[in-house]
Order: sequence, then C-alpha cells, then structure tokens
Amino acid sequence: MGKTSRDKRDIYYRLAKENKWRARSAFKLMQIDDEFQILKGVRRAVDLCAAPGSWSQVLSKRLYEEDKDAKIVAIDLQPMAPIPGVIQLQGDITSVDTANQVIEHFSGEKSDIVICDGAPDVTGIHSLDEFMQAELILAAFNITSHVLKIGGNFLAKIFRSRNSSLLYAQMKKYFKKVYLAKPRSSRQSSCEAFVLCLDYSPPEGFVPTMGKSSLEMTDASGVTAEVIDGFVTCGDLSGWDSEKSYPLDIDVCFPSANLDEEDKKRYEFKDVVQPPTDPAYKEALEMKKSGIFSKMNADMTKELKAQHKREDKLKIARAQEAESEKTAEKKEDSPVDKVAEELKAAKIEQ
Ligand SMILES: C[S@@+](CC[C@H](N)C(=O)[O-])C[C@H]1O[C@@H](n2cnc3c(N)ncnc32)[C@H](O)[C@@H]1O
Repeated sequence: MGKTSRDKRDIYYRLAKENKWRARSAFKLMQIDDEFQILKGVRRAVDLCAAPGSWSQVLSKRLYEEDKDAKIVAIDLQPMAPIPGVIQLQGDITSVDTANQVIEHFSGEKSDIVICDGAPDVTGIHSLDEFMQAELILAAFNITSHVLKIGGNFLAKIFRSRNSSLLYAQMKKYFKKVYLAKPRSSRQSSCEAFVLCLDYSPPEGFVPTMGKSSLEMTDASGVTAEVIDGFVTCGDLSGWDSEKSYPLDIDVCFPSANLDEEDKKRYEFKDVVQPPTDPAYKEALEMKKSGIFSKMNADMTKELKAQHKREDKLKIARAQEAESEKTAEKKEDSPVDKVAEELKAAKIEQ
C-alpha cells in the first residue's frame, strides 16, 4: 500500500495524524464521551491496554489539562512514549503482579473510571480469539473491582459474539446500567463494540479477587440481550464515515477554518504521530538492516544448489546402475553367448 492510499481509504486514520492523535481509536473514546459524558468530573482514571496511547492522550487532554491534580494510570504490555500527566506501567493485565501495581497507585483512593481498549494478538482461530478477548475483559474487570469507586464507570472493548449476552448479564450484576456503544469511527463491518457499564454497585458482600470470579464464561443459553439498557451509536451520523473512501483533496484538518479552495486542495502527507517504541518486529528489522537475512538467504540458496547437485548425481548413478544391470541380464539371456560359454567350458574340460 502506498504512503497516501491509506489516508485516502481511512479518514479517521488521516484525521488522527492531522490532529496529533497516536491512533484513530482516540475518536472512538471521544465519540463515546460526547454521547455519555463519562469523562465529565473525572479526576482519577485507569487506562488498561493503553499503547500506543491515544486514549491516554484523550484522558490527558480532557482531565489533566483541566486539573493538574488529575491522576491517570496507563498500562500495556508494550512500552509507550510519555504523555503529560499519565503514569505509565508496562505489564500484562492478566497477571496478578501487574494488577497489584495498578492497585498500589490508588492506595486509599479509588478511580472514577476504568477504560480498556485491549485486544489480544489475533490468531485467526475465531473461538480462540473470542476466548482471549473474554479473558482480557475478565482481567480488566478484576482490576476494576479493586480500584473503581462505588458509582464509577467502566468502559471495555468487546467483540460481539454468541457469548456477549452472558457478559452483559454478568456486568449487570455489578453496574446499574449497561450499554453497548458503537462509535461512528468504529467500522460498521467490524464486530467491535464497547460495553459501557455505569454506576458501579457490586452486590452486598462482594469481595474483589484477582482470581476468576463470577465473570467466568460458562453458558450463554437462556441469557437474552434484554439485559442491555440500550445499543447506542455514538458520533455525528452526518460526519465522517469509517467505511467510506474519501479523496485526498478534501479539507479534513480544519473544516471550519477560512481556507480558500486552493489551500483546501493542498494535501500534505503526514507520518504517524507515534510509531511503536518497541514493537515485536523491531528485532526483525534490525536483523534485516544488519544484512543477516541476505546472508542467510545466500547460504540457503547455496545449500539448496548443492543439494540439487547431489540429487542429480545420485539420479545419474542410479540410472547408470540400472542400465548396467539391464545389460548384464540381456547378456545372460543371449543364446549366442550361451553357446560361446558352453564351448569355452568344453575346451577347459579337454
Ligand atoms: C487496540 S490497542 C489499544 C489502543 C489504545 N487504546 C490507543 O488508543 O492507543 C490494544 C492494546 O492491548 C494491549 N494488550 C493486549 N493484551 C494485553 C495484556 N494482556 N496486558 C496488557 N496489554 C495488553 C496490546 O499491547 C495493545 O497495545
């Protein structure tokens, strides 16, 4: 894909670069917040699975810029470049150690909101991907149950599946309202949605645990989607469509700015705001740069050629052997040879 073709195809990707968001996901959180005002009055927030950090940027902008005492804790498996006002932790949210680190940051006080945009690496095996996503939500909920204040809110990405209703039903045990939100910037063709749980009110006697608790994924039969308080699409329906392909000459940067028509058409390519700091493919890139792959390639080609040569030689040797066996057989069968041999034998006897 060329440098500009993705900009043309994915308007939110382009808008994110124009507006200095690290990922297009920033729009998903902003559109949900614009609809539900979940960040209004928030002073403490936890962003689970936060890298590369566009949700943390939104939190920083909407909380920290307003109130320098706001506390934002972000966590991810991957390292993240710093963001003003955001405490960053690197770790796996499904591990108890990492969860404890998040909890430690809130010693004594509780968070107003926990958000989780986590997505495991997709394997392509649908049932396994679904299971991994459910595990991530479960881990997010376990951390949430420790750090969220009563009355606080929880937002988590889900992939809608046959087990989703069970998840909503389970969330409904802990929150007064459970919505399913689909922001305009989330592709309609994707089963991605966000479960928004408002007003944390766990059942009496509930003791938060880091082990699997009542959110265990068991049987979805008999649970209906009616437990949801609403399916809400967020974002201006007349706004940008994440499924549509837009030409490059449209003015996405400052729709309200007084740019003349010529200026609007002057498209300028922009690089991504924050490339991954330590991506999994970094080592492979370094190996490529050092020329190790070319050398491995050359060695392999050489070895393959030598192998082909050995196989050719073996084939020729086998063919020759077969040929000489055939000649020997023919000799044995020839009557002229037989007579000659008998004569030879008779001569020896005389
Ligand atoms: C879609 S990205 C999040 C994007 C982020 N909300 C943003 O706006 O930039 C999903 C993230 O989940 C993280 N993740 C997946 N499994 C995780 C785990 N077990 N613990 C911590 N982070 C995890 C991945 O490393 C990845 O950065």
